[in-house]
Amino acid sequence: MRRLASGAGDTLFSPAHTTPVQVCPTMNDANSTPLSPDDAILSLDGLAKTFRVGFWGRPVQALRGVSLTMRRGESLGYLGPNGSGKTTSIKCIVGLIQASAGKVQLFGGDPGEAPRRAKVGYLPESPYFYDYLTPIEVMEYVGKLYGMSARDRAERSHKLLGQVGLDQAAKRPLRGFSKGMLQRVGIAQSLLADPELLIWDEPLSGLDPMGRKEVRDIMAALRADGKSLFFSSHVLSDIETLCDSVCILDRGQAVAQGRLSDLLRSEELESEAVAEIPSGDNRPAAIATLAALPGVVLTDLPSGVRLVLPTAQVPALMAKLLELGGFLRELNQRRDSLEELFLRKAVKRDQDGGAA
Ligand SMILES: Nc1ncnc2c1ncn2[C@@H]1O[C@H](COP(=O)(O)OP(=O)(O)O)[C@@H](O)[C@H]1O
Ligand SMILES: [Mg+2]
Repeated sequence: MRRLASGAGDTLFSPAHTTPVQVCPTMNDANSTPLSPDDAILSLDGLAKTFRVGFWGRPVQALRGVSLTMRRGESLGYLGPNGSGKTTSIKCIVGLIQASAGKVQLFGGDPGEAPRRAKVGYLPESPYFYDYLTPIEVMEYVGKLYGMSARDRAERSHKLLGQVGLDQAAKRPLRGFSKGMLQRVGIAQSLLADPELLIWDEPLSGLDPMGRKEVRDIMAALRADGKSLFFSSHVLSDIETLCDSVCILDRGQAVAQGRLSDLLRSEELESEAVAEIPSGDNRPAAIATLAALPGVVLTDLPSGVRLVLPTAQVPALMAKLLELGGFLRELNQRRDSLEELFLRKAVKRDQDGGAA
């Protein structure tokens, strides 16, 4: 996949950040620089949405107070199972529906203002276009909405349709297009005005493995170009390599959020070690000493011992090995997968009686 370069027009709007942005502490870990309002490209503060359904207007609480802050240049994965409120959040962010409570800020201000909206490229969950249009015509239409000049429209359309692999199909009506091809048209139109922030709802869903790979490559290229990427997914493992931080939604609430590396590292950390210990008469006693370390599960191997232990116990293990005349051959931190993290959070929430 060719690299997506950011063209001219990066500064459609020069943001005047007058409103202080609430900083979400979980997104602002100790190792990173403090988040200034200029860095906050998107923030949600207690976002809530209740739909009324049926004749009696039964309330459906799609969002129950979601808060997050996204930095400029960050790639944030908005994750959660179907029905958890991802699309509802995104529709509130791009102004397609109104939140029942809470606040959205884009580029430090009101998301409804045209200059801010012009800096956002939106890919809906199921891009829908009139099926008699061709990709070129869709791009023309969107370009006019963004107020782009005829020359810019033509140049950018040509370039982007090529980048998403639709150059051959650019003049064919969409009615014969597969879901994957329509998704690429959706992606191309979202990039047309060279927006700074991309908000993509399930960009990887409904694609075959090759299509997924291509879209992931596009996302990686955008990331490398310094674009800010907010995208949703219900396939957690799909996006592990694509985002710096995640917000995991469960039934309308954020159950975990922060830098991916921290989330996958920080909780109930375990390490796996392989150690050599001296052979001979002292070996059983050495094994007993190591096995007595708190939280250790020890397996005796022909060539040493394998230990799974809380990471906090690693210094104690090393000290003991030194005393016993042994040494550490391998040490690896065990990593939770996103799925495991999500399940743990969701189960914990159920145990806590539904409180996030
Ligand atoms: N227009 C609507 N009217 C009524 N309920 C809705 C509407 N849109 C979404 N919902 C409900 O809100 C919840 C969250 O939906 P959604 O945001 O689409 O979740 P996700 O995108 O995570 O799959 C679901 O229970 C869904 O049925
Ligand atoms: Mg959705």
